[in-house]
Amino acid sequence: MRLTEEEQLMLNGERGPSVQKAMEIQVQLGEIYGAECMIPVKSAHMPGASIVVAGDGALKFIEEMGNHCEKFAAFTTLNTGAVDMDRPEEVGFSEEAVKKQQRLTCAYEKMGAIACHTCTPYFIGHVPKKGEHLAWGESSAIAFVNSVLGARTNREGGPAALAAAITGRVPAYGYHLDENRKGNFIINVRCELSDVSDFGSLGYWVGKRVESGVPVFTGIPADTDLDQLKMLSAALASSGSVALFHVVGLTPEAPTLEAAMGGNKAVEVYEFTKKEMDEANRQLNKHSGQPVSLVALGCPHSSLREIIRIAELLKDKKVKAHFWVLTSQPIKHLAERSGYAQIIEAAGAKLVVDTCTVLGEMAEPMRRTGMTAMATNSAKLAHYAPGQWNIPTYYGTTEQCVNAALKGVFENDQH
Ligand code: F3S
Repeated sequence: MRLTEEEQLMLNGERGPSVQKAMEIQVQLGEIYGAECMIPVKSAHMPGASIVVAGDGALKFIEEMGNHCEKFAAFTTLNTGAVDMDRPEEVGFSEEAVKKQQRLTCAYEKMGAIACHTCTPYFIGHVPKKGEHLAWGESSAIAFVNSVLGARTNREGGPAALAAAITGRVPAYGYHLDENRKGNFIINVRCELSDVSDFGSLGYWVGKRVESGVPVFTGIPADTDLDQLKMLSAALASSGSVALFHVVGLTPEAPTLEAAMGGNKAVEVYEFTKKEMDEANRQLNKHSGQPVSLVALGCPHSSLREIIRIAELLKDKKVKAHFWVLTSQPIKHLAERSGYAQIIEAAGAKLVVDTCTVLGEMAEPMRRTGMTAMATNSAKLAHYAPGQWNIPTYYGTTEQCVNAALKGVFENDQH
């Protein structure tokens, strides 16, 4: 690889042992993937920010790096953690889990990371712009920033994202390069999409077919909002490993189908009709009519607009099932200031922050819910939860999920 003088000094250890270690990791990665040089990154988003995911070995490694590293070179935020740091005992997180998570969070903070612990940092001010090079982890966020914002990141794992945060660079390969950002599948959407879960169903169906390809969607309305695109991103990255997609007429690299394909011929062209939507919904519903003991919304973490909608649906009502609305601390804070959090909690639901049902230390919180069945509007969560928690799962619209929490049963099962 071609290194600049400064990068060579980093590699030689002139900038300290942590920087040297980080640069060694990146040179190795660059050589594996055929990168010719390094590119400066504007920011990093750290995937191994939950102690459940990181484990004790990574905790020790990150603490050691922190002892020898002054500050991250790139602006860095932390992905979802293992516990709700606000009110751990209310949801059922143990003191031990909180302590371990605190150690990990502190080690990252010592190097300058912002401990926002969310998978939707783009809702709270970490908003990359088109063409910026990044080192982000968390599959749903990667697909979102690459596709919806037009920024450029590979799917970084924990060590690679940490190395990039320390050096402020990434090897130039993959989605950083123009040639890898062209579409290679075409998906013609031929049915109506309205609730966020419709976008999850679309993403789930397509992700299974294109795997790590770059799908280009036609037929998605231009007024599709960020919550819907967030759900599409998360689902594509769960059933498949999509890191980049284009929506013709909507996302920044797809003013036309031709521009999005960049001269590529489609490997396959798919039609997505009501029939394919129904097929995805059937696959995401894994239950046999059990009562609902838990409703979980906010995977990826809820925006303020989603919280307002949930509050409107819950106003002056009481839930029968446990109901978690997953979000970030800043969004919860705004929801409190604007009174929506109080409406949600008065109904018996909880705003849970910093963590989630997949990456959290959830064994005890899940046990407390009774575990008869879960309902969610997230295709990503419906994809992972049955395997992870062995819990029957209903998948449906936001309104169906709220009604399931109110009645304790999932009704109007169109899926
Ligand atoms: Fe976010 Fe956890 Fe879902 S990290 S995307 S809420 S699995």
